[in-house]
Order: sequence, then structure tokens, then C-alpha cells
Amino acid sequence: MSRSSNSNVSFVLFALFITISCTALQVKSQLNTSFYSTTCPTLLKIVRRQVVNALKSEMRMAASLLRLHFHDCFVNGCDASILLDGSDGEKFALPNLNSARGYEVVDSIKTAVENACPGVVSCADILAIAARDSVLLSGGPSWKVLLGRRDGLVANQTGANTLLPSPFETLDAIISKFIAVGLNLTDVVSLSGGHTIGFAKCATFRFRLFNLSGTGVPDDTLESSLLSDLQTLCPLNGDDNANTELDQNSTDLFDNHYFDNLIAGKGVLRSDQILFSSSEALEETKSLVEGYSNSLNLFFSDFVNGMIKMGNINLLTGSNGEIRNNCRVVNS
Ligand code: HEM
Ligand SMILES: *[C@@H]1O[C@H](CO)[C@@H](O)[C@H](O)[C@H]1NC(C)=O
Ligand SMILES: *[C@@H]1O[C@H](CO)[C@@H](O)[C@H](O)[C@H]1NC(C)=O
Ligand SMILES: *[C@@H]1O[C@H](CO)[C@@H](O)[C@H](O)[C@H]1NC(C)=O
Ligand SMILES: *[C@@H]1O[C@H](CO)[C@@H](O)[C@H](O)[C@H]1NC(C)=O
Ligand SMILES: *[C@@H]1O[C@H](CO)[C@@H](O)[C@H](O)[C@H]1NC(C)=O
Repeated sequence: MSRSSNSNVSFVLFALFITISCTALQVKSQLNTSFYSTTCPTLLKIVRRQVVNALKSEMRMAASLLRLHFHDCFVNGCDASILLDGSDGEKFALPNLNSARGYEVVDSIKTAVENACPGVVSCADILAIAARDSVLLSGGPSWKVLLGRRDGLVANQTGANTLLPSPFETLDAIISKFIAVGLNLTDVVSLSGGHTIGFAKCATFRFRLFNLSGTGVPDDTLESSLLSDLQTLCPLNGDDNANTELDQNSTDLFDNHYFDNLIAGKGVLRSDQILFSSSEALEETKSLVEGYSNSLNLFFSDFVNGMIKMGNINLLTGSNGEIRNNCRVVNS
């Protein structure tokens, strides 16, 4: 084969590669940042004002709103299915019951948005914008939120019970749940950094404090002063709903102290600490934790990338689904 036909082959392969990549990109994100620019030009300002107000009365709401978007996206995609009321809904699934919060704040955002632009903005998009604003207003990074999601018609309680990662699971199981929705190991570690804000209740980590799995000792990856603080907060027959800060260093600040904590054995959840300690931690997760602890910029850029990927999971777009009038119920 001559030199020139070789380079022709290369060119054809290159063109094919570009075509495939572009197609993949289009499939991946049917959303764009200007989706509501004519139908609801004030949308971002309205949501921001509502989130600012909510955080004025309770800073923790930033964490709660971020978690709502995550719990929405992992179950049937980002379709606001978590917001649907009803005893068979996702709100009553184990990871959400007495745990997920912020539904009233979402209602107030939706009302303000409906007043300005009735019937055009999905509840799923409101969750995505509120999550971004919550991170930003907590001192974290900002990003342009892709928009155009539509709201789902069904909640999936079984899905919420099986698809959301749990603090009682192995690292392998948690990683599999991320991979199942198209996220990877980098996303597992960077998005776990969401635990730099917010709280966890005793029920989610008490098993680490006393006679772990019948071995007679607490979780030995838990640093001793935090261990004794948590034992005091969460005695064996104490209140399951007593709360502690996920990042004891800077609770309300979206920073990289979560990763410093893991290196110091101060991860509150077992699912946090296993990214760095125990026989389960992988070389890759350990080095990501160290990288994020050393570089706030690296954490922020990987977190933003992860949030955008998470916001693109399994979307309803175009004429699929609907624009709910009330985030709690499907339109009649
Ligand atoms: C890696 C797997 C994950 C597990 C096992 C997990 C588990 C948990 C648990 C058990 C809590 C405490 C809930 C309670 O006590 O009521 C919690 C809180 C929280 N999670 Fe996660 N989570 C994970 C990933 C994520 C991700 C990806 C995000 C978002 C990017 C996130 C954001 C939050 C936030 C902000 C809170 C605090 C909520 C509040 O204070 O209201 N988590 N998580
Ligand atoms: C954004 O997406 C919508 C729906 O797919 C489309 O109508 C609109 O033209 C897009 N805007 C831009 C700037 O691509
Ligand atoms: C609910 O989620 C499960 C995955 O756990 C899935 O198999 C099922 O099809 C979903 N059901 C609905 C109604 O979307
Ligand atoms: C995860 O995906 C991102 C792109 O979204 C990529 O930059 C990163 O290297 C991937 N990580 C792993 C461990 O494959
Ligand atoms: C730990 O729990 C196991 C079984 O759950 C029990 O047999 C054992 O006696 C306990 N050890 C201590 C020191 O409490
Ligand atoms: C928080 O972390 C910083 C270093 O990142 C350290 O100087 C400070 O003492 C820590 N504060 C607490 C309360 O742990």
C-alpha cells in the first residue's frame, strides 16, 4: 500500500471517529443551557432568589436540595419522580423516608416559577438548578445547568430501594450502582464529596460504633476522638434520628475538607471511609481522595463534570413525560 492511500485510510477512520463521537454526544445530552431563554427568561433568577431565601432560614437546606437531585436522577432518571406524593412513592423508600428533605422548598420554587411562566418549566429542571445554586451558595463551584428535562408520570419505590447506594454496602456494590447509571469511579469519589455539606443520622452509621458485625470491636478505620463523640451522640438504644455533620470541620462550606477527613479517618459514613481505608479501598479511589485533598480545583472540576453527567441520566425530553403543574402530582 502506498503512503498516500495509507493516509487516506487514516483520514476516513478519523472522519468516522468524529462522526461517531458527535453522534454519541448528541445522544448523551439532548439538553441545552438556553432551553427556556424565550419561554422563561427569568427562570434562573427566580430559582436563585428562592434558594437564597431558603438558605437564609436554614443553611442545611443546600445539602438537602443537592441530595434530592441525586436521589431523583438515580431512580428512573432525572424526572422529578422523587417529588411525587403517595405511600407507594419514592419518598417512602428506605433511603428517603425520614431522610430526604426540601420538598416544601421545591414547592415554593415551583410556585414562584409558575407565577412568572406558567406551564413551561419542569420540576426535574428545577431540581437541577436548585442543586447547582445550593453548591454555589455554599462556596462551591458553579456551572451552566443543561435544561429541557421533562417530568415523569410514575414514581418507583422499588427502584429507590434498589438503585440508590446505601451506607451499609460494600464499595464494590456502590461502584456498580454508579456504573449502572453511566457514571464511573471518578464520579463515585468526586460526587461523594457532596458530603462536604449536610448531616447524617445515627441510624446510618451506628453499626460502626459498637461491636461491628459481631467482631466485638467498633470499626477500626474510624478515628478515636470522632468515634467517642459519635458513641456519645448515638448510644446503642438512643435516638436513630439524632444528626451529626458529615464534614465536622466545615459543615456548611462546600470545600475539600471531606477528603482531608477521609485521610484522617474522620469519614462519618462507612461508605465514605471505604473510599480510602479498609481492605475494600481501591488504589484508584485512594489516589482520587488524595488528589482532591491536595487540590480544591481538581475536586471542583471533577465534581462539576460528575454533576453534569448525573443530570443527564436517562432523560425524558421532547414530548415524553410532561411539565407537571404541581411537583407532587402528575397532571390529570
Ligand atoms: C456514594 C454513595 C452514597 C451514599 C451511600 C450516601 C449515603 C448518604 C447517607 C446515609 C446520608 C445521611 C442521610 C440521613 O441521615 O438522613 C447522606 C446524606 C447526604 N448525601 Fe449522600 N450518599 C452517597 C452519595 C451522595 C452523592 C452522589 C451526593 C450528591 C452529589 C450526596 C449528597 C448528600 C448530601 C448533600 C447529604 C446531606 C443531606 C442533608 O443534610 O439533608 N450523597 N448520604
Ligand atoms: C435547545 O433545545 C431545544 C429542544 O431540543 C431546541 O428547541 C432549541 O433550539 C435548543 N437551543 C439551542 C441554542 O440549541
Ligand atoms: C423501577 O425500577 C426498577 C429497577 O429497580 C425497574 O426494573 C423497573 O422497570 C422500574 N419500574 C418503573 C415503573 O419504572
Ligand atoms: C470517568 O469519566 C470522565 C469523563 O466524564 C473521565 O475524565 C475519567 O477519566 C473517567 N474515570 C475513569 C476512572 O474511567
Ligand atoms: C458482639 O456481638 C456478637 C454477636 O452479635 C456477640 O456474640 C459478642 O458477644 C459481642 N461481643 C461483645 C464484646 O459485645
Ligand atoms: C479544619 O481543617 C483545617 C485544615 O484544613 C485545620 O487547620 C483546622 O484545625 C480544622 N478544624 C477543625 C475544627 O477540625
